[in-house]
Amino acid sequence: MPPRATPAEAPPSQVLPPRATPAEAPPSPVAAGPDVGPALISLRDVSRRYSGATEVAALEHASLEIRAGEFVVVLGTSGSGKTTLLNLIGALDQPSSGEIVIAGRRISGASAGDLAKYRRESVSFIFQTFNLFPALTAVENVEFGANAARRKNATRAAVEMLNRVGLGHRLTHFPHSLSGGEQQRVAIARALATGNPIVLADEPTGELDFRTGLAILELLQSQAGTGRVVIVVTHNREIARVADRVIELSSGRIVSDRRVEGERPSLADLHW
Ligand SMILES: Nc1ncnc2c1ncn2[C@@H]1O[C@H](COP(=O)(O)OP(=O)(O)OP(=O)(O)O)[C@@H](O)[C@H]1O
Ligand SMILES: [Mg+2]
Repeated sequence: MPPRATPAEAPPSQVLPPRATPAEAPPSPVAAGPDVGPALISLRDVSRRYSGATEVAALEHASLEIRAGEFVVVLGTSGSGKTTLLNLIGALDQPSSGEIVIAGRRISGASAGDLAKYRRESVSFIFQTFNLFPALTAVENVEFGANAARRKNATRAAVEMLNRVGLGHRLTHFPHSLSGGEQQRVAIARALATGNPIVLADEPTGELDFRTGLAILELLQSQAGTGRVVIVVTHNREIARVADRVIELSSGRIVSDRRVEGERPSLADLHW
């Protein structure tokens, strides 16, 4: 049997159009809400407020459109709403107002079943706190993600992706016997082994030393190169230098949304 392509080389699943013609491509059935227009990720006046003793406006009137193939970096100080934004795009949370449309389908207000399918088969989440299963080994954690996304040859995909993040020698370690940075890399491998087209990474290099962080950044950048959307949340402004687009949040508001024009520095030119 010929070796299976790794997720980085494989085309993204059919739910999003290919990179070359994202603007013209017809909407694809990511979520089964009503067809409301040709968007990949589109937020229309989205707010998320938490009520309690004091109301928190975690995200206010956010509007943006993101195309397939974009490598987007979201910057902002602690508490500015970055994780809230990712959670809404990943349908882990629902907006208080406004609407979210993915590949032409509305996910805000979609049924629980449709949302579960969307999360499983369209979204790859790298959580800020890793969220590994403590009773599963590294390879089982990664395999779980690939299985949930209905990926064929999940075990092989898991082993390949753990090798790519430099953890081929830790396959059978449980999370408690991995360092923080190793756990973070298992979480990254679990997300990418799904092959899902929307990669949402919350501080994916936060626990990593500089060299390992660069290798992970290169891996994430390469995913966008295959036509996936990759959104990286970070405090690290150096990472923003190699993004296609930089969105800045402050107190729940998008205060800047700019495309990075011209030559990007190579990863070797970054320092932190
Ligand atoms: N479930 C919740 N209930 C109430 N307030 C919340 C809830 N989740 C988040 N918040 C508040 O919303 C704001 C935005 O939180 P969010 O987690 O999005 O920030 P962040 O930019 O990701 O910060 P960090 O860089 O520290 O991870 C914060 O002030 C936070 O306290
Ligand atoms: Mg956060």
